[in-house]
Amino acid sequence: MSKVIIEKYAVIGNPIEHSKSPIIHGMFAQQTDDAMSYDTILGPLDEFVETVKKFQQEGGKGLNVTVPFKEQAWELADELSKYAQRAGAVNTLVFKDDGSIFGANTDGIGLIRDFKVNHKVSLTDKRILLMGAGGAGKGVVQPLMEESPACLVIANRTPERATALAAEFNDLGDITGGSFNDLRDQGRFDIIINATAASLQGIMPPLPESCLYEESVCYDMMYGGRPTSFEYWSEDNGASLVLNGLGMLVEQAAESYAIWRGRMPETKPVLDSLLVTW
Ligand code: ATR
Repeated sequence: MSKVIIEKYAVIGNPIEHSKSPIIHGMFAQQTDDAMSYDTILGPLDEFVETVKKFQQEGGKGLNVTVPFKEQAWELADELSKYAQRAGAVNTLVFKDDGSIFGANTDGIGLIRDFKVNHKVSLTDKRILLMGAGGAGKGVVQPLMEESPACLVIANRTPERATALAAEFNDLGDITGGSFNDLRDQGRFDIIINATAASLQGIMPPLPESCLYEESVCYDMMYGGRPTSFEYWSEDNGASLVLNGLGMLVEQAAESYAIWRGRMPETKPVLDSLLVTW
């Protein structure tokens, strides 16, 4: 009888204990009895590269990378996917047989698929507002622009970061950046995405009410098991649909899984199961 080889994967971050990735990937693997394991690795803050190399030397096939290591993973990769290249961040590492490391960023694809496939929300010709110009915001600009929105406005607490981010990607279409206060003159938006870390602090970004109308779809990329301040605000102000990042989390994981295993898992049963248990 031939021995089944269990191929090793993991997610590395700091902190990492609350990560749902092992559960999600475990469910993907179960769908086809895929012989893989998926663990968590608490990466020491000053030893990211050493920890990754050790995992690779021990036969690891791939890693998901989360906060605060996505930029370091980008630097470490020998070759980058199209999205990772411009995002400046990597959330998926592949350890190739020749010893080289491929880096991808599946966050933006996950967000787009959650909008389009799970919620049937098209982004084409829409006026999109992206709140936040940090790593999370930057990671989704290119995939958003590929949906051909009418425009993308980036608002950030530190307006210079939003202006710089808009300038970096303005070859892709109508992208502008500025402060939250600037939004008072910008009319209303069809899609409002929160990519700030404000939700983690239980804070609502200073978004003028004039940005939202009854057709607006509001999306908080954060997900922590209960509604965020932005989700409450969106409900209270009459958004047509209020979404959180659970779908994005599952979809970005599915894309990573497909890169590693060459097969796209089914996400709906996994999402349904997480909604029940979380
Ligand atoms: P991440 O990789 O999660 O995006 P980051 O690069 O530190 O992390 O960026 C955090 C984002 O959340 C930034 O856009 C930040 O605004 P600043 O650039 O002005 O720091 C935003 N942010 C954090 N706390 C916020 C708050 N309380 N209100 C509004 N924006 C906030």
